[in-house]
Amino acid sequence: MKLKGKLILLTGASGGIGQAIARRLAAQGARLILVGRSTQQLNALARELHVLVNEGFILQADITSRNGRETIRTALLALQEPLDALINCAGVNLFGMLEDNDPDAIEQLIATNVTATILLTQLVLPFLNKNSGRIVNIGSSFGGLGYPGFSAYCASKFALRGFSEALRRELSDSPMQVAYLAPRATNTSLNSDAVYAMNRELGTAMDEPEVVAAQLESMLSAPRMRDRNIGWPERLFVRINSIFPRIIDNALRGQLPVIRRHAQSLPEPAATETQANKVSIRLS
Ligand SMILES: NC(=O)c1ccc[n+]([C@@H]2O[C@H](COP(=O)([O-])OP(=O)(O)OC[C@H]3O[C@@H](n4cnc5c(N)ncnc54)[C@H](OP(=O)(O)O)[C@@H]3O)[C@@H](O)[C@H]2O)c1
Repeated sequence: MKLKGKLILLTGASGGIGQAIARRLAAQGARLILVGRSTQQLNALARELHVLVNEGFILQADITSRNGRETIRTALLALQEPLDALINCAGVNLFGMLEDNDPDAIEQLIATNVTATILLTQLVLPFLNKNSGRIVNIGSSFGGLGYPGFSAYCASKFALRGFSEALRRELSDSPMQVAYLAPRATNTSLNSDAVYAMNRELGTAMDEPEVVAAQLESMLSAPRMRDRNIGWPERLFVRINSIFPRIIDNALRGQLPVIRRHAQSLPEPAATETQANKVSIRLS
């Protein structure tokens, strides 16, 4: 799909990855509907990208609320032209051992990453171009591989992957396309200081948001979209996990003391013990 002039609705536009995607798509001449909660961030981005001049607009909406989603429906009704693509990028994270997680934070995470994303997709579907409309759901490596310290987040991204797969098959007798893009750990404020510290200690690679944006653009531009996992060796680990999960169980068992220490903000043990806890497998 050529991006010039295409009308694309992007959630999570005020976030690290969303902003990078918006810049990338705007540079290709796409018209953007930027959705987020932070008006300040959205306004700044819209000014930078001349979104308003280019016939796009911003929408301040909390997608977990009925009102927020209705704001989006009202705007799409007023448009009177079909959308070319929906990119579901809004999401939240939760790092910590399950027993320490705040139950409200778990509810909010599922409400945002799963329920709101599904409901918004359902709402937007009738507005998508029936001959060429595309949906991209931004998942995670953790949507293909359960990782300690992120159990609720992993559950949400596994759910999103299943949703994407089922919807892709549901629409397979139409020209519309659905795909799932799974970034690995990325440098944005989604990750707490504890996650950054843990990734440093484990040697886990972290991408810049522009890497995700470039993958998204290449996915959208391709005649046929395919699901993508970003990063090597993450892609391999996700594949191994789907066939031989015990191998990954054992590797992550070795990382568990480090993960638990960061998840619980415990003091660092003696250097020798830290070294012993390091294992050769690196995931994000
Ligand atoms: N960063 C990573 O390591 C990483 C790795 C893999 C996958 N991902 C996925 O990539 C996506 C973007 O993450 P990011 O790293 O860019 O995170 P981020 O910088 O924290 O941005 C999150 C975005 O989601 C929006 N959002 C959250 N809750 C919302 C709600 N209830 N209603 C509307 N918008 C809401 C935020 O809006 P406001 O800021 O305006 O509230 C913000 O635009 C997420 O789906 C995330 O799971 C991230």
